Amino acid sequence: MENTTPLSQVDPEIAAIIEAETRRQEDGLELIASENFVSPAVMEATGSVLTNKYAEGYPGKRYYGGCEQVDKAETLAIERVKTLFGAEAANVQPHSGSQANMAAFMCLMKPGELMLTLDLNSGGHLTHGATFNFSGKQYKVAHYGLEKDTERFDYAHIEALAKEHKPRLIIAGGSAYPRVIDFPRFKAIADSVGAALLVDMAHIAGLIAGGVHPSPIPFADVVTSTTHKTLRGPRSGVILMREQYARSINSQIFPGTQGGPMMHTIAAKAIAFREALQPSFKDYAKQVVANAQALAEGLTEQGLRLCSGGTDNHLMLVDLRAKKVTGKVAEEVLDKAGITVNKNQIPFDPEKPMVSSGVRIGTPALTTRGLKTADMAVVAKFIGKALDHASDDAVLATIRAEVSEFTKAFPLYASRLKKG
Ligand SMILES: Cc1ncc(COP(=O)(O)O)c(C=O)c1O
Repeated sequence: MENTTPLSQVDPEIAAIIEAETRRQEDGLELIASENFVSPAVMEATGSVLTNKYAEGYPGKRYYGGCEQVDKAETLAIERVKTLFGAEAANVQPHSGSQANMAAFMCLMKPGELMLTLDLNSGGHLTHGATFNFSGKQYKVAHYGLEKDTERFDYAHIEALAKEHKPRLIIAGGSAYPRVIDFPRFKAIADSVGAALLVDMAHIAGLIAGGVHPSPIPFADVVTSTTHKTLRGPRSGVILMREQYARSINSQIFPGTQGGPMMHTIAAKAIAFREALQPSFKDYAKQVVANAQALAEGLTEQGLRLCSGGTDNHLMLVDLRAKKVTGKVAEEVLDKAGITVNKNQIPFDPEKPMVSSGVRIGTPALTTRGLKTADMAVVAKFIGKALDHASDDAVLATIRAEVSEFTKAFPLYASRLKKG
């Protein structure tokens, strides 16, 4: 017999957690640079019967029967993402950005070979060779950082490091770099030492799809990405590559590093790629950047310094030292005020990562919610006031109430919430 018992009866504890998290997302200001709000269509696919299906292999070459429908979903996802970014080949099976990187490294490098990447403290990612990550354990690593005065990439220095270390692979891309990345320059550096170039566009994929950041596709051997940040798809990963790498990378994903693909997520990725192909996604991407610039201006007016002087993309790194609070404290204080950010080291940060002197702030989620540049001035004032009253819980509670009132003009999941 068909089971139609609702979650609230099957598992009231988890149902209550989902309800409370929906309320948190609805009532708060989401400023984590790597988060977004997916469309109801993407959410529907991730909760669909495709989650039941095993489909090890690739469309037309599976190790399981009954794959006719999921084959179509995966083929659509592949074709759409190739069109979206103008790529020769794509693998849509990585479960996450980290898995995409693992498979790409296994194709491009042998264990013990050297990669040259942005260091974690300057905005790189764990999978770009951190000592406690598989990447740092399996490969030799040399890092480039940022130029001290400008807090930006110093391409001449990166070139000098490439000449010194002769890497097998150079990675461009990171998790907290607020400026445009010069992909032709990275390509020239890679070519000058015979290295492969991998661009990890996880953070900026949506901006590239929307045409507001230059594309790495003409320059990189392999491009990896998450699909859930600016690209606004389900929590997952994707690899774009030149045709010559497709066979090897496909085999590094399956059977190299993963088993069965998550077909519900792949269908959701196909939907997100279709959404990103619509003209309205270009408007979205433009608005993300305009909002980031407006928020940067507002935060500067609140007496805060922005690393590198501002932003070209969806995120900014805020130096909190003028307010005499650490990143750890600011994250907690803003949380009390209904504003979600993450602590983040600033370049050359004297504090440890778990404390840090900054926060990373991004606009992709609030832009999806419909906030425009004028609203960013309001958000900046909430942040400034909360940081100025960091130890006054009464003021923080007042801001939280104001934030909750403010967000009512931008309904997100009202229809999913129980009334009251
Ligand atoms: C640049 C970059 N690469 C890879 C990843 C890893 O993605 P995931 O968390 O899906 O493994 C991230 C996630 O933060 C990222 O910022």
